[in-house]
Amino acid sequence: MSVKHNEQLVEKATAARLRAYSPYSEFQVGAALRTGSGAIFTGCNVENISYGLTICAERVAASAAVAAGERNFTEMAIVADSIEPIVPCGACRQFLAEFNPDLRLTLATASGVVEVIGLRELLPHPRRGILGNDADV
Ligand code: THU
Repeated sequence: MSVKHNEQLVEKATAARLRAYSPYSEFQVGAALRTGSGAIFTGCNVENISYGLTICAERVAASAAVAAGERNFTEMAIVADSIEPIVPCGACRQFLAEFNPDLRLTLATASGVVEVIGLRELLPHPRRGILGNDADV
């Protein structure tokens, strides 16, 4: 995995972030997801006056990929204007793990702090026992 590969994804997430609809929190998040075909799907957070309906950037990107017929998630970049890189919320961790529990995440701030982490480190055992699943994947 070249550094350049990574940077391209961060750039896409940075651009997507600017399309965030976040009038309530004023916190903009961008995500870019690469799939097995090499395609990149982007997302931004979309808020709602009924706060609980808000969708995070990560789930928007993941849903765009699935809607395009791409379920083989390989890596995702997430960008926010924060002091330290943000991590996906619990709901997004589970949502992403549905398609790849070992998804590689590049977490970046708008000012250029970058960290790479595996989804499994943030969410171990995403499926254990559920619906009779005993594979612990
Ligand atoms: N948000 C994301 O889009 N992704 C994250 O990983 C964390 C939080 C959004 C949800 C809400 O619109 C705003 O950031 C503040 O929580």
